[in-house]
Amino acid sequence: MRISVIGCGYLGAVHAACMAKLGHDVVGIDVDEQKIAALSAAKAPFYEPGLEELLEEVQSTGRLSFTTDMASAAGSNVHFICVGTPQKKGENGADLTYVDAATVGLLPHIAPGDIVVGKSTVPVGTAARLSDLVLAQEPGAHLVWNPEFLREGHAVADTLHPDRFVYGVANGSEEHQAVSVLDDVYSVPLSSGTPRLVTDHPTAELVKTAANSFLATKISFINAMAELCEAAGADVTRLADAIGMDDRIGRKFLNAGIGFGGGCLPKDIRAFMARAGELGADQALTFLREVDSINMRRRTRVVELTRELCDGTLLGKRVTVLGAAFKPESDDVRDSPALSIAAQLQLQGAVVTVTDPKALPNAAKRFPELHYDSDTNASVEKADVLLLLTEWKEYQNLDPFEVGGRVSSLRILDGRNTLNPEKWRSAGWTYRGLGRP
Ligand code: UDX
Repeated sequence: MRISVIGCGYLGAVHAACMAKLGHDVVGIDVDEQKIAALSAAKAPFYEPGLEELLEEVQSTGRLSFTTDMASAAGSNVHFICVGTPQKKGENGADLTYVDAATVGLLPHIAPGDIVVGKSTVPVGTAARLSDLVLAQEPGAHLVWNPEFLREGHAVADTLHPDRFVYGVANGSEEHQAVSVLDDVYSVPLSSGTPRLVTDHPTAELVKTAANSFLATKISFINAMAELCEAAGADVTRLADAIGMDDRIGRKFLNAGIGFGGGCLPKDIRAFMARAGELGADQALTFLREVDSINMRRRTRVVELTRELCDGTLLGKRVTVLGAAFKPESDDVRDSPALSIAAQLQLQGAVVTVTDPKALPNAAKRFPELHYDSDTNASVEKADVLLLLTEWKEYQNLDPFEVGGRVSSLRILDGRNTLNPEKWRSAGWTYRGLGRP
């Protein structure tokens, strides 16, 4: 099939490459010339494991090209909208400028029978509004909402082998013409048994925000338990292991630590609350306010614990922060709890050095006032305290004896509860986890 993908960020670049991998002819379109130049040269404009290899592989087949020219969408039968929906400045709601601009820019290039497929995370009601625009331009075209659930760091695998497909079509019917078109697009994963659900537009939009809200709630639930464990002298990691053995609960997304960040969960729960308010259903989501505040409290807690570890004062203390990305295997620092903690510590008088295998260029753009060192060994030199805030493998594998020879005090705060406390304590370190004795 001939496919256009509008928006070549984390979602669109991966989607375009994966659609070409599935055998389609794909054109990726973005307004950012630098991004398009990089992608055309098979270079990923961000770090995502496996993406560059995939770009090289599919570009060599001639099935994938990139351009800034929206007119190149003409001739494709399926047009994916993959642009970002960031949080509005100074408000909780989602900024739909890019989704609207992408759709309006695409309209002159669609033909009868085409389908426009929204993948961006949007407030419920957006699909119906965009569907009207599509139909006004071309009554023979259709708009489908097909939310994306990919995780950064696993984006290629999540796109090629998703847990499920959701197709939101105007009448919510399996018989809708657009359903068989999308079935052709996804024929490879569908044939290997990936389930797919057909819904109406609002249900499909809500599936995405509901899923992210559930994940955020699960993380804040275990972080609330961590607060309790600290008060009661219990161990939240063992508690999570035990409750996670109940199938109904499950152990995934029950890792207590410094909380969630990134370009999705924080802004998605806020946009969801804002939209619920507009719909007169704000009471239904007031619990998400608590989910958000438990999450933000984690950051303050880490600053306080670091002060405790530094004998009551941060002034002049050398703090090394291991990890800047919002999670490992990503260079994304959007709403990264690690960086936000580093910045708060610096504001309170600590001398902070941040290290990370991939995210330092992005981190330096966001917080130019922090000191960065890409060499782990150099970054820990003469530190008064280490903070492990992003659980990259290389930090999990640090040797407490070797690191101990470089720092000035053997103190570590494990913000992801990922190290073995006995191992570090027996090497002479003062080890603190979150929600652990
Ligand atoms: C998320 C959703 O998982 C994905 O389905 C959706 O499409 C986009 O948003 P992503 O933002 O890539 O994906 O990250 P995710 O793996 O969900 O992690 C989010 C944050 O939660 C990270 O900061 C991570 O460190 C944190 N987290 C995750 C925890 O603190 N504890 C956990 O147990 C799991």
